[in-house]
Amino acid sequence: MKFKTIIEPFRIKTVERIRLTTEEERREYLHAASYNPFLLKSDQVIIDLLTDSGTSAMSAEQWAGIMRGDESYAGAASWQRMEAAVRDLTGYPYVLPTHQGRAAEHLLYTRIGGKGKIFISNTHFDTTRANIEFSGATAIDCPIPEGRQPDLFHPFKGNLDTQQLLENIEKYGAGNIAAVILTVTNNSGGGQPVSMANAREVSDICKKHGILFILDACRIAENAWFVRHREPGYEEKTYRQIAQEMFALADGCVFSAKKDALVNIGGFLALRDLDLALQCRTVLIVTEGFSTYGGLSGRDMEAIAIGLEEVFDPDYLHYRIKSTAYLADKLHELGVPIMRPAGGHAVYVDAKAFYPHIPPEEYPGQALVCGLYLKGGIRCCEIGSVMFGKYDETGRLIPAAMELVRLAIPRRVYTQSHIDYVVETFSGLLENRQDVAGFRITSEPPFLRHFTARFEPLIPVFETI
Ligand code: F0G
Repeated sequence: MKFKTIIEPFRIKTVERIRLTTEEERREYLHAASYNPFLLKSDQVIIDLLTDSGTSAMSAEQWAGIMRGDESYAGAASWQRMEAAVRDLTGYPYVLPTHQGRAAEHLLYTRIGGKGKIFISNTHFDTTRANIEFSGATAIDCPIPEGRQPDLFHPFKGNLDTQQLLENIEKYGAGNIAAVILTVTNNSGGGQPVSMANAREVSDICKKHGILFILDACRIAENAWFVRHREPGYEEKTYRQIAQEMFALADGCVFSAKKDALVNIGGFLALRDLDLALQCRTVLIVTEGFSTYGGLSGRDMEAIAIGLEEVFDPDYLHYRIKSTAYLADKLHELGVPIMRPAGGHAVYVDAKAFYPHIPPEEYPGQALVCGLYLKGGIRCCEIGSVMFGKYDETGRLIPAAMELVRLAIPRRVYTQSHIDYVVETFSGLLENRQDVAGFRITSEPPFLRHFTARFEPLIPVFETI
């Protein structure tokens, strides 16, 4: 019998209480947080979809590993297990442990970056761009055009536009391109996958021009699911083999273990080239810790080694991708405008289409984020003009290209009934969406304003939805 129901392929041994707040309470919390959910306290939230990063539930095996963690300063057994797990998966001989993904980015991109250098990616994640620009280099995004059209179906919307890559190589000269970074899946581009054919083409171009090719591989297991199910020729391969084939095309990877290694903290940089690894290792020891722990405890490394195995379990990956698609499909059926098809770790709602009467200057994404919290206690993140908007010389907002809201799904944390509750909250919001007004920013920091900016509803009607 072929079942339609996706069951969670795990039983629950430990639970965390969720406090079921009332709408009146949430109205007060939201007001106190100046309408910025980043400023809410976690016990004020019912379903937390702010990020899939560091929010995974660990398995009994991982918790057992935590007890086995070897906390020796140098050469710990837990480090040996993590190093072996990373080498086996990636095929890269030199592994540098870091406390999270951006530390790995900092080590590598400040070594190879600097003034005049160019980085090209399908889309740089914000910490990636920040590390590159911090070094004085320039980051250029070259996603395929289909990747920028929310409602257009394409199996691999995360692909890099190789024509644009070639044009940039021509324009800047191969010697000035510090690296090409393929982010799999493409987080900032909607969590969309990258095909093996695209990775191979990028690899060939990089080899031909002598350019370093790096994978930002923190969601590579999820990407492997899409390759197996959407790209001809991969039906018989295991998810792990598919990931290994992709690693084999590149010269190294940066990896935030907070995603597909199913842990709450950790990361690594892995490289093929000894010389580059040694340069990065020197900085690692100065900034993170000795090269056999790099800012991690032994127990963290143990849990990473186990998580990197568990994530490739076909039952887990199937449940993971299908349950994200379940949320996307239900929202689509309701008439909620979303990026389609859904990516691996999140569903992105098109807030501009959800609230067409709210102009970008009044932040439709923020209105949706606040509405979801007020109605259902759901916390999520605006990825639009609050996050990426800039001002021109006259102080007018230059809006972001899209006004999205990201519902990121923590791994192994929520059940189908939690997700059904999210869908029901959306149906409540759809009822009186024409009455909802936008927001105005009352204070903001100079950088990364979405984390700490404060807002005010433009008309008090928001207070009564
Ligand atoms: N690269 C990608 C593609 C990411 O999604 C992230 C983090 C990082 C690098 C940085 O890793 O957080 O361990 O330092 N993404 C999180 C998110 C923060 O919510 O999407 P980190």
